[in-house]
Amino acid sequence: MNILVVGAGGQIGTELIPHLQSLYGEDNVIAADLKKDNVLRLGESCRAITLDALDMKSYREVVSNYGIGRIYNLVALLSATGENNPQLAWEINMGALLNSLELAREFNCSVFTPSSIGAFGHSTPHINTPQDTVMRPNTIYGVCKVAGELLSDYYYTRFGVDARSVRFPGIISNGALPGGGTTDYAVEVFYEILKTGHYTCPIPENTFMDMLYMPDALNACTQLMDCDPANLVHRNSFNVTAMSFSPKELFAAIKSRIPSATFKYEVDPVKDKISASWPDSMDDSCARKEWGWNPTWDLELMVDDMLKAISAKINR
Ligand code: SER
Repeated sequence: MNILVVGAGGQIGTELIPHLQSLYGEDNVIAADLKKDNVLRLGESCRAITLDALDMKSYREVVSNYGIGRIYNLVALLSATGENNPQLAWEINMGALLNSLELAREFNCSVFTPSSIGAFGHSTPHINTPQDTVMRPNTIYGVCKVAGELLSDYYYTRFGVDARSVRFPGIISNGALPGGGTTDYAVEVFYEILKTGHYTCPIPENTFMDMLYMPDALNACTQLMDCDPANLVHRNSFNVTAMSFSPKELFAAIKSRIPSATFKYEVDPVKDKISASWPDSMDDSCARKEWGWNPTWDLELMVDDMLKAISAKINR
């Protein structure tokens, strides 16, 4: 089976590609991205092609010519960027999903499109947010995620398309940077502290959000897609989390390792509003029960690993 990752140049795709290669073989993974420089970078270690996922004709040719059996659709404008241009966010996030689902139907592929904590809103219970609960998001990103979950489930029940997904929280990683997300602070802080010793945070100090370290996020992408579908009660999408912390807690963990680090807050009103509407902590028991989700990275382990990896990157 050949696997296509669309939007492969982003934060998740950049690390998902080698993860997929290690599991399914180097030649069975195709990375596709809209941006030429991403394709050049990805092409150093995998089969990489330029593709606009909104161009159905080209997308169909790729799925057909490469004999694709599984699609990871990672194309998305994130939450904060989406608020600057809601129409574009809808066009990109929904357009790429609809094309992916249609091609999955035509070519009998399985398809994974991440949902997000952004699918929840103010009226959702914020503590231990259940798998099945109120979903009335207040961002265009969240609106796309809820619509995407419904559309993916529709393609499953109506056409039998094997669509599965998770609601990712903030993902912390040391490969490609996230861009335009509300949870990005939890990545940016490591670079800023190691480069300048100081970080100015756009999120209020006591706002809690769920987070995952990238190795756990990658396992979620593959474990869910490889699990026996007979065990799935849900499909789109599963709550997954490994830790929940506030900026204050994350910065204390960094300061305990780098005592000279300094932090200040300059709250961004857009990000403040978005983060306040999201869960403080999600209940991921359905993912644990239905497909064996079992994250291994907590706050302390993640901080140690991030500091080590980013110091090495900066000093290279
Ligand atoms: N990391 C994403 C964002 O902040 C959440 O899905 O937009």
